[in-house]
Amino acid sequence: VSASAFRNRATAAEGLRPLIVDLADSQIREVSRAGIGDPNVIPLWFGEPDRPTPGFIAEAAKAAMDAGKTLYCPSNGVPELRRTIAAYQSRLKGREIGTERITVTASGMNAIQMVMQMLVSPGERVVVVSPMWPNIREVVRMLGGEVVEVTLDSRDGSWRLDLESLFRAVDSGIRSVFLNSPSNPTGWVMPAEQQRSVLDYCRARGVWVIADEVYERIVYDRDLAPSFLAIAEPEDRVIGVNSFSKNWSMTGWRLGWIVAPPSLEGHLAKITEFNTANAATPIQWAGIAAIRDGEAFVAEQISHWRRSRDLVVQRLSANPRIRLNRPQGAFYAFFAVDELKDSLAFAKRLVAEHRLGLAPGSAFGAGGEGHLRLCFASSAETLSRAMDRLDAAVSRI
Ligand SMILES: Cc1ncc(COP(=O)(O)O)c(C=O)c1O
Repeated sequence: VSASAFRNRATAAEGLRPLIVDLADSQIREVSRAGIGDPNVIPLWFGEPDRPTPGFIAEAAKAAMDAGKTLYCPSNGVPELRRTIAAYQSRLKGREIGTERITVTASGMNAIQMVMQMLVSPGERVVVVSPMWPNIREVVRMLGGEVVEVTLDSRDGSWRLDLESLFRAVDSGIRSVFLNSPSNPTGWVMPAEQQRSVLDYCRARGVWVIADEVYERIVYDRDLAPSFLAIAEPEDRVIGVNSFSKNWSMTGWRLGWIVAPPSLEGHLAKITEFNTANAATPIQWAGIAAIRDGEAFVAEQISHWRRSRDLVVQRLSANPRIRLNRPQGAFYAFFAVDELKDSLAFAKRLVAEHRLGLAPGSAFGAGGEGHLRLCFASSAETLSRAMDRLDAAVSRI
């Protein structure tokens, strides 16, 4: 192609990798663009707590900055934070998780990106249980891979995973299975017996299990969600991804971690080096304060969200056109609306005509259309007003 032909092209974007051009824009962001910042719109579209980060966490970041902890740190993370996370995870899992297994990341999202970079080759397929958080699919696609969805069934008021379907998908030449429990968007919590079966199945075939546990604390009918890390041996092909975002109201800080087999430590150091070099140093000191001093805050948040969950379940169940499986974890209600065919168009109408911001079910992959997702990490008063608006909108579908 001649130089003048290049010059005549309309935009620079035409020179991008086709894969990047083809990435799906976030449908959730698409809906939110119509009303973000409008004080009259009730924003329940994103998944984040309704409270700012507690002051003692911000103070720890400031103190780190004042003390000059503002330069590079080891790629896998500030050693004190790695040790703090290891002790914290050991306590939650009821078994020793060594510090060498922890890699600090610049968010849960960044943890997922790096794990996928480590495991997924171009053309490779990854099994993901859906409805699922859409970012997972796009991360795999950016690497030239593809997601194979195994959909949850909705039966007798709850979500269920059919293990036979999962195993059939794995048997088609899959090397990695991504499981998010408690789940965004459904609130499904994977039972311990199923985790045991999946671990046995994958172990026998050398298949990786990626366990997204960012909502592990946020469960309503028990203390903790069952975890693959509690039953896996250190050198099993099991990798946990986690985040400071939800428990400690730190979505804007971008801090998370990976729990990996000890033999991956050096590989994760390389991958981190070539992504971010390290998660931001002063923010890692804030992470130490969050874990050490944040238990009361986390407990208080969860009981607040439990009340919110109960309110939303009660209101949604009272609407005869809505079908909801009671969320067992995370902070979302993912519900079906009778005769809802185009959830993206309806979510946009909800913003424009009813001043209510929800996420369209179609964003969450197979089985998502016909649904809406509402984040209930909000006050009772806000949620009640949101429910009034939703009832009005649904009655006119
Ligand atoms: C299932 C799941 N995994 C990972 C994340 C990543 O969170 P963050 O990047 O804020 O740490 C989210 C955030 O919404 C999520 O819902």
